[in-house]
Amino acid sequence: MKKQLLILSAAGALLAIQACELPPVETSQLGFRGVGMEHVANPSTLQDSMESVAARIPQLAGSPDTDMVPAPAGTWENVQYLGHLSEAEFNRTMLAMTAWVAQETGQGCNYCHVIEDDGTVNFVSDDIYTKVVSRDMIRMTQDLNANYPEHVGETGVNCWTCHMGEVLPNNYWFYAADGERDLERYYVNEGARQTERYLLDQEAIRVISDQALTGDTENTSSIQDTEYAYWVMIQMSKDLGVNCTYCHTTARFSDWDESPPQRVTALRGVGMVRHANAEYMLPLQGEWPDNRLGPMGDGPKIQCATCHNGAFQPQYGAEASHATEWPAFQILGPPHDGAGTGGDDGSDDDEGEGN
Ligand code: HEC
Ligand code: HEC
Ligand code: HEC
Ligand code: HEC
Repeated sequence: MKKQLLILSAAGALLAIQACELPPVETSQLGFRGVGMEHVANPSTLQDSMESVAARIPQLAGSPDTDMVPAPAGTWENVQYLGHLSEAEFNRTMLAMTAWVAQETGQGCNYCHVIEDDGTVNFVSDDIYTKVVSRDMIRMTQDLNANYPEHVGETGVNCWTCHMGEVLPNNYWFYAADGERDLERYYVNEGARQTERYLLDQEAIRVISDQALTGDTENTSSIQDTEYAYWVMIQMSKDLGVNCTYCHTTARFSDWDESPPQRVTALRGVGMVRHANAEYMLPLQGEWPDNRLGPMGDGPKIQCATCHNGAFQPQYGAEASHATEWPAFQILGPPHDGAGTGGDDGSDDDEGEGN
């Protein structure tokens, strides 16, 4: 009995030691001297995670077709957003999407394309929800790269950014059933559903008065509003793996002039996430099979961590998400001139000014 206890406590001590990081940690100064705006990181663990992230990125064969002469009319029958591609670039894109999204399924092209009774693959058919969803995802990816350069920058976004070889990204959210709580995976919270409101609606979270003490009747924020603001901020910090000083001078949280530039990038990110949810994720509601819906019956939605996965830049800024190598995802692609059916079914190329 005594011996068991001893082993137990030794194991406990080992666990406790493992939970600590070996020094030294590095601090980099982000703000003015003396204001305590420092980013604390452990170079060895950060290095590890950067290396393992980079190592997972699939090395895809081939380089982009720079001539980019669009495939002649009639090459495809039912291509709505990739009509600007040559046939070679189109095929390269299909191969890449297979690796980025469907790698773990082992189904290859068939993950998104219908297999007929005679065993042949019908690439034209839309009778499979994964293809319908993918088309929407292609549009969303094009839109984010084309219209949000001030957020996604040179790094850009492609399917790998969120999917990393798996059909389900690591982070997305649903409405929670009452009392249910699964913060790590679903990003929902009890009662007020703060972040959900934030990432769908146009609700700002300004709570701090611009005047001290009384006389300030402008600020009608309640304690609940303040709690809401901090809840959103804590989630945002977790999504990016940073602390408050990454975006704020903590003496004056609300002051934009004294905030690091990352805060403006973050605010643009909020607008971008709302756009992606409103324009692409919500309209998919009717397409999801039951096993993809949340406990309240709503479809999956995007948050900061869907792309960031706990890193200050998705994939730590590694080439994986480099959109410039992928002409399929740089502009809002036009429909391909089909085999004379004339049907480009509702694909709206006037979406260009989407932000
Ligand atoms: C992750 C989903 C996905 C995977 C995997 C995938 N495709 Fe596609 N495929 C699509 C979507 C979506 C479209 C329609 C694109 C559009 O409308 O702009 C499409 C269209 C096509 C078309 C055009 C058919 C036509 O005439 O309308 C061909 C050909 C094609 N895919 C071939 C392939 C091949 C070959 C593979 C495997 C290497 C593959 N696809 C893997 C999603 C996928
Ligand atoms: C901004 C993040 C993001 C990007 C970029 C993205 N996706 Fe998705 N995708 C999601 C989320 C979130 C889901 C919902 C997961 C679920 O089904 O619960 C999803 C679901 C899917 C599904 C359905 C999976 C299933 O089995 O139900 C397919 C297929 C898909 N995406 C294809 C693509 C393709 C192809 C691309 C690139 C053109 C892409 N996605 C880019 C976030 C993204
Ligand atoms: C990734 C950047 C980022 C991080 C990290 C971050 N914030 Fe924020 N914060 C913002 C942005 C952007 C706004 C403005 C949001 C808006 O107006 O909708 C904001 C607003 C606020 C406000 C409201 C200011 C006002 O005008 O009333 C408070 C308070 C705040 N943050 C506190 C925090 C705290 C506490 C943390 C750490 C737990 C934190 N923030 C971490 C970006 C960030
Ligand atoms: C669609 C994918 C995607 C989503 C969703 C997303 N981001 Fe980003 N974000 C990026 C990419 C890509 C970069 C890297 C840009 C670059 O290379 O300059 C980035 C960069 C940033 C940076 C700058 C980091 C630095 O120091 O360079 C901040 C801050 C940031 N994002 C905050 C957010 C916040 C907050 C949210 C949620 C409200 C969010 N992002 C949602 C893709 C995304």
